Amino acid sequence: MGFKGRDIISIRDLSRADIEHILKVASRMEKLKRPILPQKILALIFYEPSTRTKLSFETAMLRLGGKVIGFADVKSTSVKKGETLADTIRVLDGYADVAVMRSQEDGAARLAAHFAKMPVINAGDGSNQHPTQTLLDLYTIKKEKKKIDGLTITMVGDLKYGRTVHSLSEALTKYKVRINYIAPEMLRMPKSLVREIGEKIEVHEHTDLEKVLPETDVLYMTRIQKERFSDPQEYDRVKGAYKVDLDVLKGAKKGMIIMHPLPRVDEISPDVDSTEFARYFEQSDNGVPVRMALLALLLGAVK
Ligand code: NCD
Repeated sequence: MGFKGRDIISIRDLSRADIEHILKVASRMEKLKRPILPQKILALIFYEPSTRTKLSFETAMLRLGGKVIGFADVKSTSVKKGETLADTIRVLDGYADVAVMRSQEDGAARLAAHFAKMPVINAGDGSNQHPTQTLLDLYTIKKEKKKIDGLTITMVGDLKYGRTVHSLSEALTKYKVRINYIAPEMLRMPKSLVREIGEKIEVHEHTDLEKVLPETDVLYMTRIQKERFSDPQEYDRVKGAYKVDLDVLKGAKKGMIIMHPLPRVDEISPDVDSTEFARYFEQSDNGVPVRMALLALLLGAVK
């Protein structure tokens, strides 16, 4: 297995045993009392906006006793002067021990990992992958439902451009689960992914959320990814397509949990926040121990 020095670029690179090991270390991290990464430096390389991913990685490194450098606004960097990703990465390699990178381009994290000697963690590349979000999603499901095998997971919203649902679906093929995909026609899960996932687990595509709610254990809501549309009129046609409110939830299975990678726009009504179903803020809290586990493993502070 051995995590020291590894890159985390795609959830495909992790086996079920790898994933379960990370989740186990994450639960140990919730109780960590002493700094285990003093003197270590994390570089945050964010070419795209982020609140949770960036700040939870930062919190994770500080809790581990390490330090953080980096940028979240390319306007303040030499990228503005035309510096390539390859050169930026080579330079940061000389300053930091591990890097976390977010980019608007599919495949950018893989490219960065190729140029870097330090481990690189993908914090989202375009509409492709978001493996650390998936790890905290799995951690949340396991913590809340006490298992992953045997569950029915319904993913709703922008399944075309949403990288969180792409990564999560691929991870779930390593478990015995059933997935429902609910999306407007224009934003369906890419056909090649549905085919690939359908070869391993049971997958159904629907447009009617209320029909599958009574069988759903985990309802995974997502935002329509406005910034990835080339035509703003297309966005206007699908915005607000699915909304979960108290009325919709009347048909929910007892014990169902609602998750969302956040930020939400209008797909979950705020009065759902105080119901027994809501878990999206717990989910975002879980980003800290999961990211602590990854940093500690990649830097060899835990095995
Ligand atoms: C997600 C992302 O960036 O892909 N946010 C996150 O990391 N929690 C989801 C989104 O932006 O809709």
